[in-house]
Amino acid sequence: MAILLSLLVILACLSGSFGEEDLQKKVFVFPAASRKAFVRLNVHLPQPLTSLSVCLKHHCPLLRPYSLFSYATRSSDNDFLIFKEEPNVYSISVGGSDVRFKIPRQDIPRWEHICVSWDSRNGLIYFWLDGVLLPRLGTKRGHKISHQASIILGQDQDTFGGGFDIYQSFMGDMSEVNMWPRVLTTDDVRLLMKDDTVPNPLASWNAFNYTIQDYVVVTDEVP
Ligand SMILES: *[C@@H]1O[C@H](CO)[C@@H](O)[C@H](O)[C@H]1NC(C)=O
Repeated sequence: MAILLSLLVILACLSGSFGEEDLQKKVFVFPAASRKAFVRLNVHLPQPLTSLSVCLKHHCPLLRPYSLFSYATRSSDNDFLIFKEEPNVYSISVGGSDVRFKIPRQDIPRWEHICVSWDSRNGLIYFWLDGVLLPRLGTKRGHKISHQASIILGQDQDTFGGGFDIYQSFMGDMSEVNMWPRVLTTDDVRLLMKDDTVPNPLASWNAFNYTIQDYVVVTDEVP
């Protein structure tokens, strides 16, 4: 019995622990296009969200569309989605409704730091690229984002927890993923870009609870 128990413990550890990890100066590398590889973000949400902010940075060589942050619920596969549609277009979905932010065209891939906030009260979506707020757009005023969520980095969920498409998979480096249950300010965003922290997150890169599926590598941001 004791042997069986220790075996079970070892197995549980091998299959990925549910701990929190400080990922400062670390990145997730998605080394290949895949319909299986992703990072699941384990977040405990006590109640539906009437506002939500997500920041992350990524460095990606792809010219095709790809999914960065996919928050699916039982009522909407795209209850909150950050998706790069073209090298110069980000698509943000809330409650299944999409808006598009156009950014300057760039020919050589570089790190892009983005923050997205949505506020149910007025439906406004805030999009900061490298600390600069783009003109605000809006959708789904009055909507609530369900707290029963499956949150996945690097794949687009077309069903709750699955329905991936290899042609929408992320490739490259992703880092500094954080979430808050409120709208950020431009000062908050600038703090983050200086490697500072913004209080009361739902998920924090400094204490990240995640599970890797298939081929995703955690390594140093600067080799
Ligand atoms: C991490 O997430 C898992 C799954 O949701 C949960 O069971 C566990 O308690 C979390 N760990 C910490 C340290 O919060």
